[in-house]
Amino acid sequence: MQSLLKSNPTETSLKESDQIPALGRVYVETYGCQMNEYDTGVVKGILQKESYEIAQSVEESDLIFLNTCAIRENAHAKIYSRLQSLGYLKKKNPNLVIGILGCMAQNLGEDLFNQDLPLDLVVGPDNYRNLPEIINEIRSKGQIAPYQMTALSRTETYDDIEPQVINGIQAFVTVMRGCNNFCTFCVVPYTRGRERSRPIQSIVDEINSLVNLGVKQVTLLGQNVNSYNHEGVDFAGLVKAILENSKIERVRFSSPHPKDFPMHLIELMAKEERFSSNIHLPLQAGNSKVLSEMNRSYTKEEYLDLVGRIRNLIPHVGLTTDIIVGFPGETEEEFQETLEVVQVVGYDMAFMFKYSEREGTIAQKKLPDTVSEEEKSDRLTRLVELQTSISAKVNQEKIGQVFSVLVENTSKKSKQDICGRTPCGRMTVFPIPHGEASEWIGTLVNVKITQATSATLKGVWVG
Ligand code: SAH
Ligand code: SF4
Ligand code: F3S
Repeated sequence: MQSLLKSNPTETSLKESDQIPALGRVYVETYGCQMNEYDTGVVKGILQKESYEIAQSVEESDLIFLNTCAIRENAHAKIYSRLQSLGYLKKKNPNLVIGILGCMAQNLGEDLFNQDLPLDLVVGPDNYRNLPEIINEIRSKGQIAPYQMTALSRTETYDDIEPQVINGIQAFVTVMRGCNNFCTFCVVPYTRGRERSRPIQSIVDEINSLVNLGVKQVTLLGQNVNSYNHEGVDFAGLVKAILENSKIERVRFSSPHPKDFPMHLIELMAKEERFSSNIHLPLQAGNSKVLSEMNRSYTKEEYLDLVGRIRNLIPHVGLTTDIIVGFPGETEEEFQETLEVVQVVGYDMAFMFKYSEREGTIAQKKLPDTVSEEEKSDRLTRLVELQTSISAKVNQEKIGQVFSVLVENTSKKSKQDICGRTPCGRMTVFPIPHGEASEWIGTLVNVKITQATSATLKGVWVG
């Protein structure tokens, strides 16, 4: 749906003399997941091609975009307060355009204009290609009136756009968009639409141009990367094509769905050194009844079986996960099973959340949010405590081992130290062996682990 809303009393009139310049400086602020970080790069790529400048702060901008998330209620709350805090800029500069992009834009659409917010544009994740046109249109009217574009596409993959996504030696590369899984708690199928995979050649080309710009590590992104399928080539086929046709040093990915993690993908990870042995394998819950009500399509036993198969072929694999506590109807006994699975798997790290009811999801329609806020907080605290102790233990077991670390940066805490990740995904900090940090960034070095906390490994260079 595309709609140009009628003018309302809050809109700002412009005088002929202070028309907004044709092009301007744009600032994009990113919230939510890595997909949104990539999309911010797409938006910058699209606007830069049209000669917009990228601004470094909101104060110096003619256009401010918040690329938003809708996954939990607090994601929305953050944006409301951020928008309110930008109101003063709108008063100072009536030509300023403020827009909401991303999943919250898609989720709430027109409703966002009814809340007395300093807001001119609402553009969903499949409509960024139209941004230059939309901006021109609202500016050419000499009057900024609320504008919304939130059509979902079955084909848009932005495969021909050169995104601005490099962060040091790393970059994200989106390989598929959307999700068909409809986990009952999740808003993503509604905000991102149906699954679609990007052509292999455009992914390989993008990675090659990133390599030419000095990128050493890419993270392949998708809501469910292992349902990638382009003209019969699956995710493992895509990774093979990337490894064969580019000089990228390390390939990571996020996130796979446990329901489709084939043996040949595990075998490829085991065999290919450049394919990082780090798997983010969202569990969500440890009880099979809860998993079934979440529509996750696997049982606790199937999940544990998959972990066993992975560990069998890749003994040094790094496993991380996502867990939701307090899903509707989850009993204390069912939650105990989540704790059990966490203990049995021994994840390196986990993202843990309290269930947050989302408008329009299947759970919101069919499963009342019965677990009290207090109970959710209590379960989350117990889960976090357990996971923190496991992370510390898993890391301590690495003391004395030597890992191949891809150096990413100088350490935030000390200029004398540099840091990077092991193949299993653990952040490792160690003193600069000699010379300058810049000589080491982007290189693969062997580091012997000497100390560990729940979050980080420390070590020394061993050549
Ligand atoms: N596509 C990814 C998930 C993306 S959302 C996947 O399937 O793995 C990231 C995480 O947010 C999810 O894994 C889930 O743990 C959490 N999440 C999603 N919806 C939620 C909700 N309504 N309440 C709380 N956490 C939620
Ligand atoms: Fe959401 Fe499930 Fe799709 Fe992940 S797989 S994005 S949790 S619906
Ligand atoms: Fe949030 Fe959308 Fe990502 S809802 S988690 S920004 S796909």
